Amino acid sequence: MNKGIRSPSSLQPRKPATKDPKPLPWRRLVAAARHARTHAYAPYSGFAVGAALLARDGTIWSGANVENSSFGLTICAERSAVVSAVAAGRRHFVALALVAGRGEPASPCGACRQVLHEFAPTLPIRMVSADGNVRDVTLAELLPFGFAHEDIERGR
Ligand code: THU
Repeated sequence: MNKGIRSPSSLQPRKPATKDPKPLPWRRLVAAARHARTHAYAPYSGFAVGAALLARDGTIWSGANVENSSFGLTICAERSAVVSAVAAGRRHFVALALVAGRGEPASPCGACRQVLHEFAPTLPIRMVSADGNVRDVTLAELLPFGFAHEDIERGR
């Protein structure tokens, strides 16, 4: 053994301790949300919304708003995406894309923020308007003190 002589591998620069996280497939997600938006059922508001939720296993779950003549029963695009994914056995989510409106990108409503919080409190969200404006946020920014399972456990 050549003790004291460093092997060539130890002369290589050290690898960083943590790998860079995989970049999120925003183009694919936004395309899925834009497509889902074409399925919106919005005869009352005329405001079509599409959402696409990326699950940890790489599958994409899309949703569109579904309105009702009894207006309060309307289901938003985000909640329709979450419900599809969870009903198909996915509970771990990585990112959400949302396509709606014109000009300033529309932001998820309060009810949808809380429903997303149940599964992914820090979810990265890309909001895109139909005419191409983009805003990136996280759910933690949109809903910093969401109600959670632990609140029930603590307060029971
Ligand atoms: N809408 C969504 O789909 N997501 C939101 O976060 C905000 C609002 C829908 C509900 C309704 O069909 C229409 O937009 C107008 O409120």
